[in-house]
Amino acid sequence: MADVKTYKIAVMPGDGTGPEVVNEGKKVLVAVGKKYGFKYEFTEFDFGGERYLKTGETLTEAAIEELRKFKVIYLGAIGHPGVAPGILELGILLKARFALDQYINLRPVKLYPGVECPLKDKKPEDIDFVVVRENTGCVYAGHGGVTRKGSPYEVATQVMVYDRQMVDRCLEYAFKLTQERKKAGKPGKLTLVHKTNVLTFVGDLWFRAFMEMAKRYPDIQTDYNHVDASCMWMVKNPEWNDVIVTSNMFGDIITDLAAMIQGGMGIAAGGNINPNGTSMFEPIGGSAPKYTGLNVINPLAAIEAGRMMLDYLGEKVAAAAIQKAVAYTCTKIKSLSAGKMGYSTSQVGDMVAENI
Ligand code: IPM
Ligand code: MN
Repeated sequence: MADVKTYKIAVMPGDGTGPEVVNEGKKVLVAVGKKYGFKYEFTEFDFGGERYLKTGETLTEAAIEELRKFKVIYLGAIGHPGVAPGILELGILLKARFALDQYINLRPVKLYPGVECPLKDKKPEDIDFVVVRENTGCVYAGHGGVTRKGSPYEVATQVMVYDRQMVDRCLEYAFKLTQERKKAGKPGKLTLVHKTNVLTFVGDLWFRAFMEMAKRYPDIQTDYNHVDASCMWMVKNPEWNDVIVTSNMFGDIITDLAAMIQGGMGIAAGGNINPNGTSMFEPIGGSAPKYTGLNVINPLAAIEAGRMMLDYLGEKVAAAAIQKAVAYTCTKIKSLSAGKMGYSTSQVGDMVAENI
């Protein structure tokens, strides 16, 4: 008998409700693997707030070297009420993104039927787009510093950093994704979001690179919006969006807005992608410490992250089956909010798994 195809997956459940939602995600992954004839070898990494409080360690160099051996990481959530803000975010989440050069943050934004949308009169067919957020540069790159700290003359800088190849590799990913979506019947429109009216150096670099690359993709319709206007249109006319490409900080902000119009943190997932290395998939909602251990948190975002991971690994049919089961589950649960679903965390996971 031929060996069953086995995917090696690094799992970082993390803090708070992270482990609970990752458990449900794994349950669904296993169910879909059974159906489509593949399995997994999960390797757990215990980085997070608890480990930091015990050992003072965030993501270690040794762990990064270990993680490099995996094509994908499945992440729960990082964030602990006992640890000062910034330490775990910088030391684990951002460290992984940077060390593993996960230069794309991919955020699908899709309103499933039955999910309550805060935008009046907007339907699932109106909200179906993807944000491609550059994930290694911008003000996240760590250039800057502080002088005269604590004095009335304190000076602090945090510089928006981009070079041409960082911009180009991100744009290239976005153009190709837009092309792929077009083949699947989507509009084939790519919108650059930036702030060229103020950021006359960095914005201009992005804009010129975008226009130049557009010549190589004549089948793709291109558009440009300033980031402030983009927020406005995302609320008023979300149906105008197909694929958005943007820099790191703007992408961080607009994807939280985008998450709300698809039903909120209960459903929003993202991928930190290095197409030639190790990619990491996560629910974007955070560790929600107050719900820890109560079996009330919504696992659909983590399940969606698992779906994106399988899709990335090339298991398109299995990923589509998860999506169908998630969409069905959305019509059954009362709300996407923690504690208001009408079902427990594990019941929602069961419902998705059973409907594969
Ligand atoms: C995100 C988060 C992170 C970010 C934080 C936790 C560092 O908000 O993934 O969007 O700013 O990128
Ligand atoms: Mn964010």
